[in-house]
Amino acid sequence: MNICIIFFSPSGNTLKAAEETASALSDNGHGIQLIDITGEKEYFSGDQTGFLRRNVRPHDVLLIGGPVYAHHLQFHVADLIKALPEPDCKIWGKIAIPFVTYGGICSGTALEEAGKMLRRSGRIVAGGVKISASHRMTRAFLDKEFNAGPTEGEFRTIAQGIVSLLSDISDGKVPDAGKQLAYQSRSKALIFKIIFDEKTWHAKRYPRVEIEKERCTGCGACAEVCPVRRLQNNGGAIGYSEESLCIHCLNCVISCPSKAIALKGNIERGRAFMKKNIEKYGNKEFPASAVISAEK
Ligand SMILES: Cc1cc2nc3c(=O)[nH]c(=O)nc-3n(C[C@H](O)[C@H](O)[C@H](O)COP(=O)(O)O)c2cc1C
Repeated sequence: MNICIIFFSPSGNTLKAAEETASALSDNGHGIQLIDITGEKEYFSGDQTGFLRRNVRPHDVLLIGGPVYAHHLQFHVADLIKALPEPDCKIWGKIAIPFVTYGGICSGTALEEAGKMLRRSGRIVAGGVKISASHRMTRAFLDKEFNAGPTEGEFRTIAQGIVSLLSDISDGKVPDAGKQLAYQSRSKALIFKIIFDEKTWHAKRYPRVEIEKERCTGCGACAEVCPVRRLQNNGGAIGYSEESLCIHCLNCVISCPSKAIALKGNIERGRAFMKKNIEKYGNKEFPASAVISAEK
């Protein structure tokens, strides 16, 4: 089978999952195309469907990956799915599998949302994959990043699970895994929907990311790692793009060699909230990582 893997990975965990999966699938004789939209200039300049049409090669199965943010599918991954052309049996295959990485607190309703959107785009959702990985936001808030991992071996086990899932569907009869992807209780799903809207939640709850002009040397390290091209290096002057919203991945805070990018606002409140969530929910989701398929 030909498999196209498209993913958004602000801080590298989903990238690792995509690469491990590509390698395992390729070892099993599948043709693979990997497309990373993270910080991709052409993709983020506006015409997402055009970008996809120009770059995606003919495939049978589409794997779409990204992180869980605020219990949901990160909104750029949702936008990516919305930008997909309909399946046409020439280039765009009919089968899709979403995969998400999350920081060991809660995978939320990300897979359910991805499944629904992929189905709306005319695809059969053969399964979904969730991977418990390091919590990248905790890098800038806590002394130690929460939930380090997964190890190479764990990534490989998941990738092998995806290989098995695909071998199950290669006979052409593909059941849809919609029900299985809705694995959170309906009361939790409702709370995520009402309270945790990613854009407003992060704007209200977490400190802003700001450049301290006096400290900035204009080296451009931050612009290089900004996954949404919000930070831009205009010949040594770092500026913000108004069109792109900060998603709080905190890559810029971590990567700035002169510590010129700082979190501004009520940092203690953000830290306390995160610690409370880790204590209450950290590593309690079971199974933490899984390849979920449709019931046969
Ligand atoms: C802004 C932000 C919000 C996040 N929200 C959640 C969350 O609700 N639940 C969770 O378990 N992990 C959460 N995480 C952790 C990420 O889902 C996790 O680190 C993911 O693997 C990151 O993927 P990436 O490295 O491909 O960007 C969040 C991380 C960030 C930066």
